[in-house]
Parts: sequence; structure tokens; C-alpha cells
Amino acid sequence: MIKSTHRKVRRVLIASSHGLFGQGLRSLLQDRKQANVEIVGVVSSLQEATQALDKLDPDLIIVDYDDETLNRDEFLARFVEGEKKLRLVLLSLQSPKDALVYDRRSLAAAQIDEWLEEWTHLEEKSIIPTKQENQAGNRRKDMKHLIIAGILVVVVTALLILGLGHVRLLPTQASAQARPIDNLFGLEFRVIAFLFALIVVFMLYSVIVFRRKPGDTNDAAHIEGNTKLEVVWTVAPLATVLIFAYLGGQSLAETVRPDPQALEIKVIGQQWAWRFEYPKYGIVSDTLMMPVNKQAVLKLSSNDVIHSFWVPEFRVKQDALPGGDKFVRDLRITPTIEGEYKARCAELCGRQHATMLAPVKVISQQSFEDWVASETQVSADPVVRGQQYAQQYGCLACHSIDGSALVGPSWKGVYGSQETLADGSIVTVDDDYIHESIVNPGAKIVQGFPPGVMPTNFADQLSEEQIQDIIAFIKSLSSP
Ligand code: CUA
Repeated sequence: MIKSTHRKVRRVLIASSHGLFGQGLRSLLQDRKQANVEIVGVVSSLQEATQALDKLDPDLIIVDYDDETLNRDEFLARFVEGEKKLRLVLLSLQSPKDALVYDRRSLAAAQIDEWLEEWTHLEEKSIIPTKQENQAGNRRKDMKHLIIAGILVVVVTALLILGLGHVRLLPTQASAQARPIDNLFGLEFRVIAFLFALIVVFMLYSVIVFRRKPGDTNDAAHIEGNTKLEVVWTVAPLATVLIFAYLGGQSLAETVRPDPQALEIKVIGQQWAWRFEYPKYGIVSDTLMMPVNKQAVLKLSSNDVIHSFWVPEFRVKQDALPGGDKFVRDLRITPTIEGEYKARCAELCGRQHATMLAPVKVISQQSFEDWVASETQVSADPVVRGQQYAQQYGCLACHSIDGSALVGPSWKGVYGSQETLADGSIVTVDDDYIHESIVNPGAKIVQGFPPGVMPTNFADQLSEEQIQDIIAFIKSLSSP
């Protein structure tokens, strides 16, 4: 009995408008003689299939899954659910060796026999699942998962924002310019917290809830694209980025808004120290003194390479460029909290980049005026003046006055000493040698110190009197 069913010749009708599909299927089935398959015809439309039905009398219709001109549901309604009660299979040919059945099960050529066998044992039932009832149930289940995951996303986002509020992500906010920047940061942190929750919750939920249960050997469902979803996940990020671009532009405008009353301070970067000049008062300082709640416009420039001026508490940052007046850059800072800060260099500028720091003091208007008064008094003592200049012009960033070795030789005890130069000759450190070393530092370099480190432009920056005062100061460091 079984044997007779098995031997029955199956008459197969192929529906596809692509000639190659029919050919490929024919060659796939011809190799399997024992399956007793006879291809009775190839049709390219529902109409042709209907017409051919009486003449060809097929047992099975194979519909090209990839042929979009064929409406599968119509085929289903006409031949499977109609009076004829034929078997219908959706098939996609991948290669001359493999085929995909409607459910995207991959089928090796060797499995084709098995698969054909399956058909013979199927009763009137179609291989296509009876859709409608199934779908309603699935939709209800999908909705449930979506609602749970959605609630989890909201909860995780709220917890993250709460947690972020307890972590000090940014240093003290100590300038008016820091406010718009911090507001923007705050908004970004919240959006990022939501995105993090959205991605991680859906990922972990899927990994846990939809994991493969023991004994389950089924293939996963084949999922087609979802145009609505794809439009949403393209438009939403685009809109978010555009909104942030707008807010970013607004914040940038706020941080550079000029105050006509601003105090001008020249900031000069030089390997590896900062110098601050107050043109209005004729003061040069190695400490940036700023009156509180008054906008300062820093005019940034560099004597050698690119540096970058940055006080984290003020948030704003700007490069200091070499190249003269054309390359001077403005940075506006209105400090709001009195106290001591530290300016750093935020652009890799050489060996001592990390130590290119300068103290910043924000003081009251009255203290600032007192400081200006004390700085503008010129001492009668050349040693005191020399020390002041050495400080102001950054000499002490590289030359210690306590004997410790920095980038250059220490000044302590150096005056009057005998030093061996790079070429082996001996030199006595006197007024002439120091003078030459200041205005032409490359001329005679002491053994053990690399050439080309000391800036060569001090002759332009210092007056002859100032150089003499510095020599007097160096001399004083050797006196008993
Ligand atoms: Cu100057 Cu880094």
C-alpha cells in the first residue's frame, strides 16, 4: 500500500515568469529519478495556471518565491483553498545545488528526496500555514513583549539619569561661558542614557526571552523588512542630530558673545610656559590674574609651536598659534567663582607639554586693583627686578634657582663656575657668557644639554636693562 503511494508519479506544474527558474528546478529534479517527478509544464501567471489546470492535471504547483509578479495569496486561494485542493509550495532557488522552501529552510540537494517524500505523505493540507488564525495570536504575543521591553527601557533610562546625577562628570562650573556648555552636555547625557537603554534592553530581552529552549531544533522565523520601522529609525536620529547641531550653534554663539568692557589680556604660549601681559597696565605675569564677574578677552598667540589654552573649570578652550598678529585668537572668559585654578596646555607641544601649567587666580575687583598697583611699582633693586623678569618671561619654567635640574641648567651657583661645553672647551660663566646665552642661546651650549631647546627670541622681548637685571639676579644666586 505504502509502496504504491511511493511509486506514484507526481505531476508538477511550475509557476514563474523567469525562464531560468523552471530550468533550474527541472535540472534539480531530473537528478532524482526515484522521486518519480514529472514536470508537466511551466506557467507565468495565475491565468495561465488556471487554463493549464484541466489539460495538465498537476498534483503539485511550485511557485517561484522570488517572482514578484506572482501573487502568492491568489495562488493559495485559487488552488489550495478553492475546489481543486491542490498542493502548493513556494520555492526559492539559490544555486543549482540548493533551494529554499517558503519558510526559508535551507535544503541541500541531498535532502530533496526527503522533501519530495514529505509531499506524498501530506494529506490535503497545504505546506503554507493557515495564516489568519495564527497571525492574530502572534500579534497579541508580540504586543506583550513590546510593552514589557518598552517599560524596561523607560525604567533603565530613569535609573541611568538618576545615577549620572550622582556622579561628578564635570569639574566645577566657574565661568559664565561654562553654563551653555554644561546645559548641552546635560541634555546629551540624557539622550545617550535613553539610547543606551533602548539598545541594551532590547538586546538582553531578546537574548533571554527568545533563547533556544532545550530540544528545539527549529529554524528561526524568516523576517522580511519593515519599511515603517526603517523610516522611523532613519528619520529620528537625523532629527536628533539636527536639533543638537542647532543647539550647539546657539551655545557656541553664547560662549563667544563679546562684552565691550572686557579686560584684554595677552596670553603667550612658549615651550613650555605661559606668559600673561596686561597691555592696559604694562604688566607681565606668569600667573593669570582675573577679576571675578568681569569678562576677560584673552588674545592667544605662541612664540614657537601650537599650544592650546585650557582651564577645565572655565570649559572653553582655544589654540595659541605661532605666526604673528594674523594668527592671534580670542578666548572670552567671565569667571564667576573666586579661587585658584590651573591653566594647562591641551595640545601636544613637545617634551615638557605635560608640565606646561600656569596658576590662574580669580579675585575680587578690589584685590585685582591692589595687585595691579603692586605690580606696576618698579623696585629700585636690580636683583628684585631681575627675579621679577625671570618669573614673568618664563625663564624659571626651565631654570631652577634651587640647584635641581630642569630642562636647562640650574641658576643656583652657576655664576662664576667653569662649565664644559659640548665641543669640550671650558667657559667661565660671567656677565658676557650669560648675556650671550640669553640673546643667542645656541652659541655655547653646556655639555649634557640638548641644543635648540631655549627660545631664540629673548633679544626681541627683553630690553638691555631687563637683561642686565636678570644677570644681576643670577649673580645673586651664587653669592654666599
Ligand atoms: Cu604647550 Cu602642550
